[in-house]
This record gives sequence, C-alpha cells and structure tokens, in this order.
Amino acid sequence: MILVVGGAGYIGSHMLKRLRTAGEPHLAFDSLCHGHKASVEGSSFVHGELGSRADLEQVFDTHPIDTVMHFASHIWVGESVSDPSKYYANNVVATLNLLEVMREREVKRFVFSSTAAIFGEPEQVPIDEAHPKRPESPYGESKWMIERILSDYDRAYGLKSVALRYFNAAGADPDGVLGEDHRPEYHLIPRAILAALGEVPPLQIFGTDYDTPDGTCVRDYIHILDLAEAHLLAVRHLREGGDSRQYNLGNGKGFSVREVVETVSRVLGQPVPHGDGPRRAGDPAVLVASSERIRTDWGWTPRYPELETLVRHAWAWRQTHPRGYEEAS
Ligand code: UFG
Repeated sequence: MILVVGGAGYIGSHMLKRLRTAGEPHLAFDSLCHGHKASVEGSSFVHGELGSRADLEQVFDTHPIDTVMHFASHIWVGESVSDPSKYYANNVVATLNLLEVMREREVKRFVFSSTAAIFGEPEQVPIDEAHPKRPESPYGESKWMIERILSDYDRAYGLKSVALRYFNAAGADPDGVLGEDHRPEYHLIPRAILAALGEVPPLQIFGTDYDTPDGTCVRDYIHILDLAEAHLLAVRHLREGGDSRQYNLGNGKGFSVREVVETVSRVLGQPVPHGDGPRRAGDPAVLVASSERIRTDWGWTPRYPELETLVRHAWAWRQTHPRGYEEAS
C-alpha cells in the first residue's frame, strides 16, 4: 500500500486520483493545514501531523504500507526567506520524522517532491540534473537537504528513493473535480484567473527588466497530470528493485509572465487587469527544465505540453468551483 503524505494538497490530490484509476491501494495522510478534505474524496484518508511521531506510527502500524510518496511541505519561496524556521521545521525536521518511522518499520521505498528551487540562479538553460545546486532560499535549501539525506539513507539503510524536481506545476484534472486552491493564492496562473474575475486586486508583474525577450521572467509550466504520471513510474521503478534516482520534470519550453497573462486573457475571453511591479526577491530570470533523463530512462513524455491547455483546465475548474473548495478557510 502506498502512503500519500500531503494527499489533500494540490499535487497530492491529483496523485490520489491517478492511483485510484491505476487500481493502486493507497492511503492519504494530511494535516489539512493547507489541504482540502473535499479533494481526497474516493480515497481512504487519515488526519494527522507529519511532525507527530505518534500519528505516523499509528498509520504504519495499522496499514500494510510499503511505499511512501511525500508531498507535504511549505512551498512559498518568499515566506521561506522571512520565516526560515517554519520551513526547516516542516520540510526538514518533520520529513526526518517520517523517514525515521519508515526506517523503524523497514519501509524502503520513497518518492519525494523536490523542486527547481534547488538550483538557484541557473548557469545554463535548459537545466539538467547535473546542474550545480545553489539554492537561494530556505525553501530550496530544505528540499536540497532532504535530497542529500536520502542519498545518505540509501547508502546506510538501503532506503531507495526517487526525487522529482518540479518546475512550475499548473493546470487541473480536465474532468473538473480537482483543481488548485491555495489560500492565499500566489501562483501566476490561478492568480491571473482570480484577477480577471475581480476576486483579487489586479495582477502585478514582478519585474519587467529581466534579460529575457520581453523583460519578464520565463518559467517552464508542467501539467499536474504529467507530474502525477511521473510519480506512478517512480513507484513502479522502485517496486521492481530500481536504484535511487533524481529527475527534473518540466516541458522543456519556457513562457514569459506576459505570455502567460495573454494566454489567460485569451482563454477566458476577458482581460486580466495587471500592472508592472518590481522584481520579487529570489526570482531567477529563466527556469526551464531539461527532462531528457526521465524521457530516456522511463519513456515519460508530457501529455499536456501546451500552455493553453494548462490554462483551459485551470479555468474549467474555477468556473465550476467559483469559491474553490468551499470548506477551506
Ligand atoms: N508572478 C508575477 N506575479 C504574480 C505571481 C507570479 O509576476 O502575482 C511571476 C513570478 O515572479 C514568476 C512567475 O510569475 O516569475 C511564476 O511564479 P509562481 O509564483 O507561479 O511560481 P514560482 O516560479 O515562484 O514557484 C514555483 C513553485 C515553487 C518552486 C519554484 C521553483 O511554486 O514551489 O517554482 O523556482 F520553488
């Protein structure tokens, strides 16, 4: 059975759905501090704290868990700079707690949500796995720490892991049941949609003087379902006795903030009110992935590589869920 830690979050909930359709026995675990109970519907769910050893032991002692997927983390780069303690406590200390319980129970398969933020300002793009790791925020640092801990745990304890380094996760399941609902919402695509709807103030474009074709930051947006697919491949790899791996996950194609705003406006058929603002601290000019390694090794290939598709799916969910997951605070 697969334990999905952080199963009620944006990526975790899409993963649960993929596991349901694949017929993979699984259990969601979430504190619901950011996640939404409504998004785990159809999967078994346990409410608990990642930082609580008792909560984790209870889960491992009552379910035949042999694999763990770990999505539970704090994710805001800017907040991690102003409140690093929160990031190290949750993303590192609480994750170690999970790894310790796994070690005691001899659970040796782990799929970890890592991030493009481990690379810092890129030396070259597209960014491949070997690119130097120089995280510029406690958020990126916390993820890179765990990657290094995983390598030590493999050597010492035989824990096999796959770290998937996401670039910009976006979109929603096209069936319209699951979507992205962070509170507050800082991510570009959902925030642009909310700005068009008048739910948040006009979008600020963070920096227009970058060394990019239109002066705004370029990012690699990857569909949430393509991410989920990569996790399933990771589980299968580990189950077949595969070794520990790290993969960068993106489309390999960059879009500027202005291009995203234009695409949102076109898909919605209405303008996205926006204005130019200053740069946001810690934003590299260009982040684009090379995902050649996972394409070659596992035949992974994005099903939804078009920016327009990502936006259309995000918009479809917002249209049917004008207040997001309603129970959320
Ligand atoms: N942006 C704006 N205005 C906004 C929001 C975002 O201009 O209101 C810009 C950002 O400056 C950035 C781009 O849009 O250039 C994308 O920003 P997001 O906040 O959507 O995503 P990030 O690139 O900051 O963050 C994502 C993940 C992080 C991860 C990071 C890796 O959400 O978890 O990629 O760099 F760490």
